[in-house]
Formats: sequence, structure tokens, C-alpha cells
Amino acid sequence: AKLAIFVSGGGSNMKALHAAILDGRLNAEIAAVVSDKPSCGGVQYAQAHGIKTLTYPIPKSNDFPGLTASEMVDELKNGLGIDFVILAGYLKLIPSELVKAFPRAMLNIHPGLLPGFGGKGMYGERVHKAVIASGARWSGPTIHFVDEEFDTGPILAQGIVPVKPTDTPKKLAARVLAQEHALFPHAVSALVDGRISWREDGIPILWSDS
Ligand code: GRF
Repeated sequence: AKLAIFVSGGGSNMKALHAAILDGRLNAEIAAVVSDKPSCGGVQYAQAHGIKTLTYPIPKSNDFPGLTASEMVDELKNGLGIDFVILAGYLKLIPSELVKAFPRAMLNIHPGLLPGFGGKGMYGERVHKAVIASGARWSGPTIHFVDEEFDTGPILAQGIVPVKPTDTPKKLAARVLAQEHALFPHAVSALVDGRISWREDGIPILWSDS
């Protein structure tokens, strides 16, 4: 299967997926890394590993500057033959046309337990700060299908880590991120291999969970 991975930051989740591909745990190919931040760590890693990159340097827009959403769809689907889109630390909203072009084929990872601690502006340390402030004893990553809003699509998988009394957002972020790296390759592998069933109410179930 051909993946397009969208990144805006360091790209450690993308690296975890790439590592899983290289050692045979994930039967896929990263056909493109797409970013709104041309010099972010994720793009640099892709360039260093000969992975095609598509970058859109203008910030503060939810569109892809220089390219309409339908041109983006055309490039991903017809130009590159992308089967699945994986958002790995991509911070912009995905235009609805692009969401619709990949039904049940676009995943996002969020560093908190949705449906709490998500939504517009809830990313990075803000999530962990809110979790600590809430007094919650557990946190963890959520992997979900992407719909047209931030962090609201159907949940596919979650991991849990303890929230410790002495945690800072930074410490909690590191603990959750380690769990993200373990969980994401499993979830993407289930997606590309078709090991997901859909409940009648639209909830996806991993075969390994049932
Ligand atoms: C991760 O915590 C992910 O859950 C969130 O952004 C962070 C990206 O980290 N959406 P990285 O770029 O994969 O290192």
C-alpha cells in the first residue's frame, strides 16, 4: 500500500512508521511526505532518506497554498497512487475535499485520550497541560479516522500511560509519545492489511481487539 504521511514537526511518529516498514512490521511504502513546514524535522528526515516531499510553505492557512484542495487530491490519487493518508503531527485542518477523497483511509494520531482533551488549538504541550490540570490519572494517544473537524473522527485505537503526581507537561508528553511510537505502526498496519471491521454505528474495530 502507498502512504502519504503529513507532518508539521519533528516527525518522530513518521520515523516510527518508517522503521516498522524497514523491518517488515508494516507492509507499506511511504510514497510522499506532505508538510506545511518545509524545513521541519519530518521533511528533513524524508529528504535524507530519498522519500518524495511535497511542501507548502505559507503558514496560517488551512489550505495548501499554491494548490487547491482538488489539485492536491489529484496529485495524491492520480499522480502518486496514494492509498492511505496518515497524519503524524500535522497541525492544519484537512480540507473537506481531501477528507472525502480518502473515506475510511485517513488516520490521525492525537496525544491525549479523545473525546476529551482535543479540538482546535489542542496540540503539543497544551494537551498535556490540560490533562494534568484536570486531575486525570491516565492519559495516552488516540488514533482515529479523520473527519472534517479537529479530533472528532471515529476512534480506532488508544494507548494508556499513567499521569504521575510530579508530572510536568514535558514529562507526560515524552511518556505519551513513546506509547504513540508503539501503537501507531500497529494501527496503520491493521488499516493497510484490512484488519478492521466497521460496526453498524460507524465505529471501527481492530480485529486484535475483538
Ligand atoms: C505527537 O504527539 C502527535 O500525537 C501530535 O503531534 C506530535 C507529533 O510528534 N499530533 P512527531 O512530529 O511525530 O514527533
